[in-house]
Amino acid sequence: MTQTRVLITGASGLLGRAVYAEFKRNPAWEALGLAFSRANEELRRVDLGSEEEIGRVIQEFKPQVIIHSAAEKRPNVVESQPEAAKRLNVDATAHVCNYAAKVGAFVIYISTDYVFEGIKPPHKPDDPTNPLNAYGKWKLEGEKAAMLQHEGNLILRVPILYGDIESFGESAITYMFPMVKDSTKEFLVSDYEKRYPTHCADVAVVLRQMAEKKLQNDSFDGIFHWSGAEEMTKYDMCLVMADVFNLPKDHIKPDRTPTTGAVRPYNAHLDSSRLEDLGIGQRRTFKEGAYQVFKPFL
Ligand SMILES: NC(=O)c1ccc[n+]([C@@H]2O[C@H](COP(=O)([O-])OP(=O)(O)OC[C@H]3O[C@@H](n4cnc5c(N)ncnc54)[C@H](OP(=O)(O)O)[C@@H]3O)[C@@H](O)[C@H]2O)c1
Repeated sequence: MTQTRVLITGASGLLGRAVYAEFKRNPAWEALGLAFSRANEELRRVDLGSEEEIGRVIQEFKPQVIIHSAAEKRPNVVESQPEAAKRLNVDATAHVCNYAAKVGAFVIYISTDYVFEGIKPPHKPDDPTNPLNAYGKWKLEGEKAAMLQHEGNLILRVPILYGDIESFGESAITYMFPMVKDSTKEFLVSDYEKRYPTHCADVAVVLRQMAEKKLQNDSFDGIFHWSGAEEMTKYDMCLVMADVFNLPKDHIKPDRTPTTGAVRPYNAHLDSSRLEDLGIGQRRTFKEGAYQVFKPFL
């Protein structure tokens, strides 16, 4: 069987690991995963800060598809180091898409619900954007860079992610679990912004399905959304985590004020119907996902 070559940037990251695993387990695909500080025998070290390194790996591997997942995703870090974040989130995206076009590959660029202001949900892919913080602004610039290099590229916007972790701090959801587990200390957690927790393994399936669709039909392109279906605050998520494992929850207290630090959208719910109408998608409930993710830590 002739395999289709897919290059995955950020394959050592929270989402990238799930995406790499999804393509790797599927015999129709030959996957090459890239990493930086966490490169190993399986994942190739490529510094996306270097245009030369980007060009070399793309020209050598000649992918037909690139899933561009690498980014600086921590809003407070982007706020404090905007130029470094721009180099990764915008400039590297332009280079990846430029070299992709040279070898005839299309790129699926991973973006975020933070491109929206979050006051008129649910957001459709063509709704006007208005990012409130530097992370959202650079990711939106990344989208534009991806489309400028090749109009046939695709953008997938996703909301807050969780999934299999190497450490609790990897995701803005999983970092809360140690505090949920420790009932000796009060844990004050946001009960303000509305979020839609989305499992990385579900996003990975969506990305593979999108890539397969694009290979069948070259006119399939543009901006798409994929989101979990449950509206929850971080406080709601903590209560589910506690319930799933029958843990005490009296120490978990709701904070009904906006999150401090980089400004967050209040409710940037992404409408996923453009993909759903094409039969693309996979979802698990937060209860199912939380059980799978945290079981190994009990
Ligand atoms: N996590 C979320 O809640 C969320 C929500 C919406 C959208 N997104 C988007 O989803 C995508 C994936 O996010 P994630 O959560 O998987 O991020 P992550 O866990 O922080 O992973 C970031 C990845 O980028 C790589 N990277 C960083 N600097 C690099 C460099 N100079 N050269 C090459 N690679 C570099 C990292 O490699 P090393 O670790 O090996 O250094 C890592 O694989 C991002 O585009 C993000 O904006 C994430």
